Amino acid sequence: MTRAAIVTGAARGLGHGVAVRLAADGWAVALVDQSEDVVSSAAALADGAHVARGYVLDVSDPDACIATVATIVDDLGPISGLVNNAGIGGPSTLVHLTDPAEFKRVIDVNLLGPFHMARAVVPQMQSAGHGGSIVNITSILGQQGEAGTGPYSASKGGLGLLGQTMAMELARDSIRVNSIAPGNMLTVMHEEHVQWLADTKNISYDKALDEVRESIPLGRHGTAEDIANTVAWLLSADSSYVTGQTIGVNGGVIRT
Ligand SMILES: NC(=O)c1ccc[n+]([C@@H]2O[C@H](COP(=O)([O-])OP(=O)(O)OC[C@H]3O[C@@H](n4cnc5c(N)ncnc54)[C@H](O)[C@@H]3O)[C@@H](O)[C@H]2O)c1
Repeated sequence: MTRAAIVTGAARGLGHGVAVRLAADGWAVALVDQSEDVVSSAAALADGAHVARGYVLDVSDPDACIATVATIVDDLGPISGLVNNAGIGGPSTLVHLTDPAEFKRVIDVNLLGPFHMARAVVPQMQSAGHGGSIVNITSILGQQGEAGTGPYSASKGGLGLLGQTMAMELARDSIRVNSIAPGNMLTVMHEEHVQWLADTKNISYDKALDEVRESIPLGRHGTAEDIANTVAWLLSADSSYVTGQTIGVNGGVIRT
């Protein structure tokens, strides 16, 4: 039986790399994103050997999450994998100077988005009775705060603990919940962060990028494939005794 998985934030970046890998591993993949580009991203992935469909959804909308997951189940069958990857960076202002509406948007997407998706997917996993695996993409900035990352760090730290809680609540249903905490991965989101570093330090973009790379013990930025490899493992039976964990995929930047 083909297994079906949902990957949010899959139009580009880490989520797209995860969707490509899961499709190659034989999953029927629902690529979900607020960007309409997700439809063409999925179409480019789908061929005779790979099942992939795109769905436009803002994960901060609880009712839309319920409706979209119901459509995905109709299209692809019961969901046994959920990768909550959609996320935004948010403001880089100091916490006490941050606009409450901007802070709230980060929480709505990065923390409540995975919650809304879990509300939509978990009852369906329970009634299908085959267990499942949920992977939340957090961040090194959810493990250690840095100046100028308040809303983002709070959202990702919260998501890590939300996942641990759900792991305990769902273990007896054989639904595993784990987090992957990426480090510095070369995507549009990281490029925007590096530009902010360059502006703050009054140095060039290339110099700021070099400084980040030199701070990584393994000496290189991470890639979507690095995250996809770990997601593929967490969605496979090879990780069947792993739940409630946060796995750092960060080149050694943070040791836990
Ligand atoms: N790039 C990094 O260095 C890095 C480091 C740590 C954690 N992360 C996390 O990894 C995940 C993926 O990041 P990325 O670097 O690929 O980012 P990205 O900005 O390149 O891609 C994010 C995707 O999520 C989608 N998205 C944003 N808000 C959404 C919403 N409300 N509903 C549905 N889709 C939405 C975007 O349209 C985009 O396609 C994010 O959760 C991010 O916080 C990234």
